[in-house]
Formats: sequence, structure tokens, C-alpha cells
Amino acid sequence: AIVDFFANGAEKPLQGRKMLVTAGPTHEPIDPVRYIANRSSGKQGYAIAAALADLGAEVTLVSGPTRLEAPRGVTRKSVESAKDMLAACEAALPVDGAIFAAAVADWRVETEADQKIKKRDGELPSLSLAENPDILATVSRLKSGRPALVVGFAAETETIIENGKAKLAKKGCDWIVANDVGNESGTFGGDDNQVFLLTNETVEDWPKQSKDAVAQTLATRVAQFFQGVDA
Ligand code: CTP
Repeated sequence: AIVDFFANGAEKPLQGRKMLVTAGPTHEPIDPVRYIANRSSGKQGYAIAAALADLGAEVTLVSGPTRLEAPRGVTRKSVESAKDMLAACEAALPVDGAIFAAAVADWRVETEADQKIKKRDGELPSLSLAENPDILATVSRLKSGRPALVVGFAAETETIIENGKAKLAKKGCDWIVANDVGNESGTFGGDDNQVFLLTNETVEDWPKQSKDAVAQTLATRVAQFFQGVDA
């Protein structure tokens, strides 16, 4: 108990740091009752938000629709679409670091129907798509107020490291956590994750571990980054 007392009283490594985390899928409305979505559960992003808060960070979690409860000590902003997610992220700035773990839909339906689209005999509705804003790339490329550390995820089903490195360059972020989301991997909705941490200089192959363990390792890395920045 005495040890606990001192552990809790100790300065935590991310004390005083503001962090932004995105998580979950986005829902892109088709009409008032239908939407386009994906299989993201939000577990990895929520675990990251919790791990950062455990290290003392002030965390804003911008979350798409999930079944998860907001982690203790984390401020959650719930959104549905990619456009809303971008707006909520911009509202959360400035932050010291940002981790983009959300599975943002690449496309939205160009014009959301005001009323439920009715089924008509022999006539199929067609959906015209528009590209969503890339939230990670937008924040990475901010001219002023860019977070000191910007981390993206790369959900890949093949040539994970190569695709992850390409994504690092394309999006302009500092680190990419590349993971295998192929059907056999069980990543989507599952509790485990096997990831690579890619930077401009390095490739690290982390062992398959729980999403909570990935989050704790990543949060520790973030804390080390900021300790280096301060030094
Ligand atoms: N991302 C984002 N906004 C988007 C699309 C993606 O912020 N509109 C972020 C994700 O949160 C993730 C990273 O970009 O951190 C990579 O997402 P991913 O789906 O792997 O990449 P895409 O850019 O969609 O490329 P592709 O689907 O072609 O692999």
C-alpha cells in the first residue's frame, strides 16, 4: 500500500501533455435509415486513449459509433461521419500528439437523401460517391499548429511493411502502426493485434499481443518521444 501511494503520487510521464486519439468506424449516411460503414470495433483506439490517460495525458477521444464505454479519465467526442470526425479533431487542437486509429470511410454518398429511399419495381437506386477528407493527412500537413507527434495506422491485407512505408510518406505523419487486417488475422473485432511500428528510419516488428498491450507499448513510446523532445 505504501508503494502504491508513492506510485500514484509520482509525476506521470505524460502529465501536462494533450493528446488526440481517433477510433472506431465512421458511418456515412445514405438516407435517414441507412449508412455505409466498416468492421472496425474501436478497441485498439480506445485502448490507446486509456493507455495515454494512464500515463497522465489529457486525452480527447474522437470516436465513431462503437459499443465501447469511454475509458476513465478520457474526454470522448462522439461523431458519425468522416466530415464530423475531422471537425471534432480540428476543434480539439492544439495538442502535443495525435494518434489516428479510426477506420475512416474513404467515401461518402455524395448527396444524402432527405427521406428513406423507397424500393421501386425493376428500378435500382444508384449511389454516387464522393471522397472523404483525409483526417490524418490534413492534420499532418498543418502549416501552423501541427502536433509535435502525428501517428497513423495502416490497415493492410498484403505487403504490410511496404504499404505502410508508402502510407507514411503519402500522409506526412511521423510514425505508422501497420497492422494485418486480413481475414485470417482476426484483427477486426478481435482482442489481439500484430503490428509493425514504422518511422522514416526504422521498422520494428512487435510480437502478436493483446490490443491493450499494443496500446501500452505505444503509449510508452509516445512518452519516450516527449522525454526526448524535452531533453
Ligand atoms: N485516415 C484518416 N482519414 C481518412 C482515411 C484514413 O484519418 N479519410 C487515417 C486512418 O485513421 C489511419 C490512416 O489514415 O490512421 C490509414 O488508413 P487506411 O485506411 O489504412 O489508409 P487509406 O488512406 O484509406 O488507404 P487505403 O485504403 O488505400 O489503403
